[in-house]
Amino acid sequence: MTLILGIESSCDETAAAVIADGVEIRSNVVASQVDLHRQYGGVFPEMASRQHVKAIVPVIAEAMAEAEAGWEDLDAIAVTHGPGLAGSLLVGVNVAKGLAYGRGLPLIGVNHLEAHIATNWLSVSPVHDLVSTGSDAFPLLCLIVSGGHTSLILMHDLGRYEPLGSTVDDAAGEAFDKVARLLGLEYPGGPAVQRAAKDGDPRAFSFTRARLDHDYDFSFSGLKTAVLRTVQQYDPDLVRPGDMASGEQRTARKLRPKTVADLAASFQVTVVDTLVDKTLRAAAEYGVHGVLMAGGVAANRALRETMQDALNVPLGMPPISLATDNATGVGVVGYWALQRGQTAGWDLDVVPRLQLA
Ligand code: KG4
Ligand code: ZN
Repeated sequence: MTLILGIESSCDETAAAVIADGVEIRSNVVASQVDLHRQYGGVFPEMASRQHVKAIVPVIAEAMAEAEAGWEDLDAIAVTHGPGLAGSLLVGVNVAKGLAYGRGLPLIGVNHLEAHIATNWLSVSPVHDLVSTGSDAFPLLCLIVSGGHTSLILMHDLGRYEPLGSTVDDAAGEAFDKVARLLGLEYPGGPAVQRAAKDGDPRAFSFTRARLDHDYDFSFSGLKTAVLRTVQQYDPDLVRPGDMASGEQRTARKLRPKTVADLAASFQVTVVDTLVDKTLRAAAEYGVHGVLMAGGVAANRALRETMQDALNVPLGMPPISLATDNATGVGVVGYWALQRGQTAGWDLDVVPRLQLA
């Protein structure tokens, strides 16, 4: 059996997990900083890295204890080294280096996006059987939708990716977070918009979708501005584009709860339809054997249900609790890399804009 300790600190969650044979979760510990960042209405990078420094050693100790693993039981230590916030990534990478060096273990650098995708290989994933069939499983289409990324990626094999398109401006999660702020809803915006949308009419407001020359690119900035313009009709003298954070309290008072619900539902359905539409077209064009959704926005119920109904190939998505940032996927990718002998040197560095290719 191969045991990997995965460490994740790319954004605002400090996480560690112990994964057996690339599929079984022995432990999964996540210390969320959401309460800390809520007062700023978004992630405050300097606070995030300081919080990682405080949390990382206890989080790793808890993951090892929960897995009932000793250091001598581990085969490698894998850590996210990008993409993400430089100061946050540095904390995880340096702790991983120190532990690996001190314990004489191989060190593996993991791409955060690949870790999101890899959660679909865990035995708790609904497509575990499909993706575990080896080369027969491919090609697969990956839709990564998080706070920092919105991309469609063709996966030809483990570790072989071909980007088809990505957002030209805001990521889907970023759009959820910004629109939430505009509607006076709390951070993080995705779950808050989803909750508000439950009581809303998705046809109350009609927002047009961005048309882009490149088929598989996305754009959500125009939609965000369209929501802003609608809010301004209720509160003309307050909200300007750069003003969303400071305007939230007054805006919230001027909008009736029903209007907030209708706006949230109409915004959400537009994002979901855009994501589903492009995914369907890419799935058909490339004849994929399945679609894998990953990233925080993959926790969105409307997206999960609409995508499930629309696709005629299997859809893999991590259980909701594993969609947002955690270290389980880091342990899975670490296992793949160790099998190929792809370990890192002690010069492993953080790469805030690391690409997947
Ligand atoms: O993957 P993630 O935890 O962190 C990044 O790597 O960015 O994704 C966080 C993003 C946030 O923008 C958050 O608002 C969004 O995922 N999110 C959601 C939901 N839960 C989290 N968006 C829509 N619906 C949700 N239920
Ligand atoms: Zn993420």
